[in-house]
Amino acid sequence: MMKNKLKLLLLLLAVSALPISAQNPVKVFILAGQSNMQGHGEMEKGEKGNLRYLVENDAKYKHLVDKDGEWAKRKDVFIRYTNRLHEEFHGPLTAGCGAYNYTIGPELQFGNVIGDYYKDNDVLLIKTSWGGKSLAFNFAPPTTVGGEDGYPTIPSTPEDRGYYYVQMLATVHEVVNNLSKYVPNYAGQGYEIVGLAWHQGWNDLTKAEFNAAYEQNMINLINDMRRDLGEPELPVVIATSGMRGKEVGKLESLAKGQTAVASHPAFKGQIKIVDTKDFWFEKEDSPANQNYHWNRNAVSYCLIGEAMAKAMEELIGEYDQKGIERKLRSARRASDKILAPLPPMGWNSWNAFEKDIDEEKIKAMADIMVESGMRELGYEYLVLDDAWMTDHRGENGELLADLEKFPNGMKAVGDYIHSKGLKFGIYECRGDLTCQNLPGSFLHEVIDMNTFASWGVDYIKMDACFAGRNGRLSSDDFTIYSEAIKNSGRSMVLSISDFGQGAWAWGGKTMGQLWRTSMDIFPYINSVYRCAETSGGAGSSHPEFNGLWQFAGPNHWNDPDMLQVGNLKSEAEDKVHFSLWSVLSAPLMMGNDLRKMSDYVKDILMAEELIAVNQDPRAVQGYKIFEADSTQIFMKPLADGTAAVLLLNKGVAKRDVTVKWSQIGLKGEQKVRDLWAKKDMGYYKNQITAEGLSQHGVLYIKVGEPSETLIPMPQPLDVSRYTITKSGVTYLSDICYIMKEYNHPAYDKSYDGGKIVVDGKTYKKGLGCTSSSTVMYKIDSKVSRFRAVVSITEAEEDGATGRFRVMNEDKFGGRVLFDSGKMKVGSTKEIDVDISDLDFLMLEFTGKKVKGVWADAQVDTRIDW
Ligand code: GLA
Repeated sequence: MMKNKLKLLLLLLAVSALPISAQNPVKVFILAGQSNMQGHGEMEKGEKGNLRYLVENDAKYKHLVDKDGEWAKRKDVFIRYTNRLHEEFHGPLTAGCGAYNYTIGPELQFGNVIGDYYKDNDVLLIKTSWGGKSLAFNFAPPTTVGGEDGYPTIPSTPEDRGYYYVQMLATVHEVVNNLSKYVPNYAGQGYEIVGLAWHQGWNDLTKAEFNAAYEQNMINLINDMRRDLGEPELPVVIATSGMRGKEVGKLESLAKGQTAVASHPAFKGQIKIVDTKDFWFEKEDSPANQNYHWNRNAVSYCLIGEAMAKAMEELIGEYDQKGIERKLRSARRASDKILAPLPPMGWNSWNAFEKDIDEEKIKAMADIMVESGMRELGYEYLVLDDAWMTDHRGENGELLADLEKFPNGMKAVGDYIHSKGLKFGIYECRGDLTCQNLPGSFLHEVIDMNTFASWGVDYIKMDACFAGRNGRLSSDDFTIYSEAIKNSGRSMVLSISDFGQGAWAWGGKTMGQLWRTSMDIFPYINSVYRCAETSGGAGSSHPEFNGLWQFAGPNHWNDPDMLQVGNLKSEAEDKVHFSLWSVLSAPLMMGNDLRKMSDYVKDILMAEELIAVNQDPRAVQGYKIFEADSTQIFMKPLADGTAAVLLLNKGVAKRDVTVKWSQIGLKGEQKVRDLWAKKDMGYYKNQITAEGLSQHGVLYIKVGEPSETLIPMPQPLDVSRYTITKSGVTYLSDICYIMKEYNHPAYDKSYDGGKIVVDGKTYKKGLGCTSSSTVMYKIDSKVSRFRAVVSITEAEEDGATGRFRVMNEDKFGGRVLFDSGKMKVGSTKEIDVDISDLDFLMLEFTGKKVKGVWADAQVDTRIDW
């Protein structure tokens, strides 16, 4: 208790030592539009109307220079923008963030005024503007181009309609996802997307039909941006394109369209128009004679920026009064190495489409993930699995998209995914081929990781087909990938897809963020149960571990494979599947065709309270606390002091399943909430019974009341039970294997339970196996020899053979230390091999319906026997 108090005090001290701005959310504004937003106000050029002239003649602007007369840099306002030469900049707000480094746009005074308004917060301006573009074409939002269905194909080149809309949204999301790069003081306090300020020139006037459609196009832009940013009521300020001078007549019609947007009934109280007419200066008072860029007058741009900021402040004030809250979003700090603090969530193409993927389907999935609200629930990665690439590499050895499926290439797909506020995931394989016989990454690790980085990939699923031919241990392979990812300069999650070959044992934690614990999942419930057992039971490890929970935590998750929810036979099956993945803190990667999901499937995938358990900040994986007669109970202790408890029945017959509070570390009267029904069930004394659970039925509950005292975790299996802790001989049947595939061996007896007898000699120690059975032991370079006598003891068919192999680490390493070759019943071989310097020892027994023994299987720390 004292210790905790001390910790809290230290935490408070640490927090209070931060400047106030680093404790309050960063306020993010999007400044968007076209050349007028880029900004052509001259800083030095000309006699009058330039910024220098302004600061020297108007005391109101003296803040724009510092005491040495240099252009001042704001300490609390930051900007990220691209200039006319397509160069990207970011840093503290100052003069020169215009179309050129010698010009300003509305951003300068907008940022200064807003920066003063938010005394206790840092402000970030994301300026996305491109000159010479129209709203009807270049910025055309999805709804303008294709109505409800959005873009028919992904706009991928600057010539495509809607390209700049996609770029604008992709940029905003990329920036906020890397906030600490743009806000140097960022201390993890989160951010809010506060408002959009739009200002453009006259390009939509160039065509009568563009002009006529302006109002509707602007309405679509606002609606689409709000949806794609996840801010349904985002305040918007529009500065009219209007200015005096010879364009006035025509510009009036454009300004009319802009003004009309504010009175659109759905936008009531959410949009303000800034009339810019009065900000015009004649050419005599300006640095240039260039009507359409406000005669390049800096004063005009200052006035526009100021007026937009004031209008924005008014809107913010009105929202505050009405109590409309903005979403507080979290972002990582530069110092946060943690890419996956909680189990990753998203959608992956494999279970729904296998090889049959294309741009249209991926785009549809992205759209649905946003429109359905799935993104807001945390589903953020959209992962393209195998078969996105063509069957050969490019001239420089680079991977190429299959252009029949993805005619616009993978960068465009990534941009689109990013424009939707989602993250882009992609598949490769560490073999020379992928599982679908397409180019794998073996010997192309660096170029492939760099290619992915250049496409804006955020998540890499790295598969293992053909990896046995690499001649590398899995741990070596993944070290290469994690280094290549680091050197690519882009943060990318590395998902280790190796059919459950023990990444939790050999150090996957230091290389990737999640690893498979199972073979592939298939769309039937027994496959789902089998996969669940690899993570939550003895499916992939020794029973004493009680599942792999002790190996999971922030940035290293057990992955029993992707979801088959929506692909199973019934609602009950889908529900028990999602319940298990929830309690086991499994990555939630949807695997169904979202276009075709029924209401119940959608409700299951969007079951908020189950997702909350999966994503609970205590970040522990749930574990089994009971199993009998096809029924199971799992629990997961939560950060609020309660526990999630899942009771289920796999059997055909109906069953009552009871959980006692003593089994979950509680007692007496406890509050119970049904997570599926989202209802409190009342208080229960000592226990609760799920009555008459039918096959695949579940009761999934939250037990207890929020409390600072957390329910204690069980002790993880002690290392002495699964590593070598003494010198001399250790029989392998006296310790637990850390990974297993197929059948568990019997310890100190034949597989059928009899004595171990080889050539008439009885052995007290050893492993009895049935084909196939593979086990991996953690030996940590502590032993020098492995010895055993192997024999085939029984075969179901005459002449059947079995084979014993001893390997270093897992089967992909291909490092075979001993191979018995095919052996018939009764034949025997002795093994005595050097295994010094090995961290893992794998024993593999294969064959067709045969039984065999590893008699006397032992490791020895001594060099000489
Ligand atoms: C392996 C993986 C699957 C999927 C396919 C693609 O089987 O385990 O998840 O990626 O390859 O070929």
